[in-house]
Amino acid sequence: MPDLTVTLCGIELKNPLILASGPLSWSAAGTRAAFAAGAAAVVTKTIRPQATVNPAPHIAALGRGSLLNTEGWSDLPAKQWIKRELPAPADRDCVLIASLGHTPAEVVRLARPLAEAGADMLELVSYQAEDAAPMVAAAKRAVSVPVLVKVSANWPELLEVVEACLRAGADGITAIDSIGPALRVDVETGRPLLGSFAWLSGAAIRPLALRIVAEICLRHNVPVVGTGGVGRAEDVVEMVMAGAAAVGVHTAPLLQGLGWFGKTLARLEGWLDEHSHAYLSDLRGLALPHLQEPASHTPLTFAFDVELCTQCDRCVTVCAYRARDLSPDGQMLLDEAACRSCGLCASVCPTGALRVALP
Ligand SMILES: Cc1cc2nc3c(=O)[nH]c(=O)nc-3n(C[C@H](O)[C@H](O)[C@H](O)COP(=O)(O)O)c2cc1C
Ligand code: SF4
Ligand code: SF4
Repeated sequence: MPDLTVTLCGIELKNPLILASGPLSWSAAGTRAAFAAGAAAVVTKTIRPQATVNPAPHIAALGRGSLLNTEGWSDLPAKQWIKRELPAPADRDCVLIASLGHTPAEVVRLARPLAEAGADMLELVSYQAEDAAPMVAAAKRAVSVPVLVKVSANWPELLEVVEACLRAGADGITAIDSIGPALRVDVETGRPLLGSFAWLSGAAIRPLALRIVAEICLRHNVPVVGTGGVGRAEDVVEMVMAGAAAVGVHTAPLLQGLGWFGKTLARLEGWLDEHSHAYLSDLRGLALPHLQEPASHTPLTFAFDVELCTQCDRCVTVCAYRARDLSPDGQMLLDEAACRSCGLCASVCPTGALRVALP
């Protein structure tokens, strides 16, 4: 059985999956259900002194595993979280991370009470990039539990913010929050999907999240909770290969139900077995050295397996230069003089029959 344990800021997690902040972690009932489903850690819905009142509606599915939302922070006040909704450590064998927003003054007021109520870590989150480092500094003065800071792809100077937060004492980074503002219009009514601009999460943001995780990990030896668009076990592996120490997820279990955790963990073990990896943590950062290599200009060579080819013709259709063809007897033909080595044909092959041969 492969070992899925990871370490985050000195705390061992039984697997890499963390339920990120959002509606599923709305209360003690939500966090307990996520623990029971297999999440190794849960980040609460963001806690502020006053409860928010969300517009109706405020979440819409976009198809293909993505969501738009206009949800604010927790609709329970901080007092209630501290008194009733942060289950005591004795009551659970999983790690509870309290999400705290959105200003330095709120951190001064709430960091210590949340830690004293039982949070194993804090995750600080703000809409304003300039507030992130002062929030970290305030939290580090108030608590001894590890402090994560959540960063947003909306911040143009994101890497400078990360650096300032690390200088202020952050123990780890969560990357990324949902991004936007974004817009979809319901063409039947002519109205914006959620009545306004909204925040995008899920599959649509995964490549952006991966790039940001990798950029942080290339510069800093710091634990990063890679968050954004993870939907399958292979996405968990990809996030770890980009450098993530653990993996945050919200959209996938929100759309598919909390059973997503069990299914994904089983598939993750299967994937590691199939690829002969005994430890998930061995894969951490595997992609990073390749990001520092210069781009290759050597023409591509291809491997073709006639047994796997279903003659679907996709590789032929996508070639802008008409360099590829299939012969009537199923042989793959390539006009090498016309081929520009773009690689698209192999990347669309659904069966792996056509592959770019690695150097
Ligand atoms: C409906 C919804 C509400 C969210 N609320 C919060 C929140 O209160 N605080 C926060 O830090 N992130 C919040 N997030 C962002 C998620 O924690 C996560 O960073 C983001 O959705 C990317 O991960 P995903 O693609 O796996 O959902 C919310 C996301 C969704 C979809
Ligand atoms: S690599 Fe690009 S140019 Fe060459 S055959 Fe494939 S799709 Fe066409
Ligand atoms: S895309 Fe793959 S399966 Fe389809 S014709 Fe090309 S090689 Fe065969």
